Amino acid sequence: MSHFTFSHRSMKFQAGIFAILDEKKRQLQKEGRTIYNLSVGTPDFPTPPHVTQAVSEAAKDPVNYKYSLTDRPFLLDAVKGFYQRRFSVELEDDEIMTISGSQEGMAHIALALCDPGDIVLVPNPGYPIFSIGPQLCAAIAETYDLLPDKGYLPDLEAIPDDIADRAKYILVSYPLNPVCAAADDEFYIHLIEWAVKHDIIVIHDNAYSDIIYGGRIGKSFLSYPGAKQIGVEFYSLSKSYNMTGARTSLVVGNRDIVKVFRDVRSQFDYGMFLPLQYGIAAALNGPQDSVRKQCADYEERMKTLCGSLRRIGWDVPDSEGTMFVWAPLPSGYSDSTAFTMELMEKSGVIVTPGASFGTLGEGYVRMALVLPPEKMKAAAEAIRLSNIL
Ligand SMILES: Cc1ncc(COP(=O)(O)O)c(C=O)c1O
Repeated sequence: MSHFTFSHRSMKFQAGIFAILDEKKRQLQKEGRTIYNLSVGTPDFPTPPHVTQAVSEAAKDPVNYKYSLTDRPFLLDAVKGFYQRRFSVELEDDEIMTISGSQEGMAHIALALCDPGDIVLVPNPGYPIFSIGPQLCAAIAETYDLLPDKGYLPDLEAIPDDIADRAKYILVSYPLNPVCAAADDEFYIHLIEWAVKHDIIVIHDNAYSDIIYGGRIGKSFLSYPGAKQIGVEFYSLSKSYNMTGARTSLVVGNRDIVKVFRDVRSQFDYGMFLPLQYGIAAALNGPQDSVRKQCADYEERMKTLCGSLRRIGWDVPDSEGTMFVWAPLPSGYSDSTAFTMELMEKSGVIVTPGASFGTLGEGYVRMALVLPPEKMKAAAEAIRLSNIL
């Protein structure tokens, strides 16, 4: 125990459940048990070779080790070309900024948009940084409910007018981690009308537009009329191009928001490492067939896992998108953390308790699609043999 007194804020970030899961995993591995780790969303697919080549070529040149300070024209051109081809969205240079991963961007954007005590609207359940980001700058994260019988879409009219009028921004993200739901055009059109009415900024986290199933097309929030007037989108290269460790993402959209965010970020960041700027450009300019193939592979994994679980009596719905499956607890269980520990102990299958994504995540567990179909079948078989159902 340290004798120093640290910030109250720091108390919120103790390792918690993941440290316990990790410890338990190590123990099972020591016992020689077979582990199926579906807890962490780290892709096992390779980074496209043209990306690794661009990064490594650029990394050989000492000139690329200087502070970059800005996003280079070749990178901005790549982003503009990509958004045009992929989403039919026209962008200008001052509507684009690189960030060191969407996680970093979402941790910091509230510093640019909010004062202490301001309200931000975030989904429950939702990816944790959505609510932690505002809290880091003493803004208040008010949650909006996402319910399965509403397709996990928010009921915007249920948000009281006084909250909506005071809120600085609403964070939305589809396909959404962890609930694996996608949103349709009607939702985005209505969201924009609602945001204009309440004069509220929209931030769309588009981490999974390239991992979407059932013939759906992953879109950009900016492709809807009026979006750029009121919001920005985070587009991460992490999952689409298997670059999670490179920390490469973009904020694109409303130029005033991009500018204020750039001004704040420039206080703690001197620009993206130039070899990574080359890597982003290579990914966005290059062939996209590996992105499409990988989406089909994720869909096969998802169908195999969900189908195998349903066959053994666990009623898990197919995902609409993301690299996850959102599974209601089997009957007889109500505590997602206790269930996760028991499942791991009895079957070797490691999942993430839904409670880590907000109060409405309780009663569910999340499984990451990070193993090939044969292993997914084997994981389901291990669950069957464990008699936990
Ligand atoms: C919804 C969502 N947003 C953002 C991220 C983080 O992306 P990045 O690697 O760009 O920080 C993840 C990663 O799992 C995610 O699921």
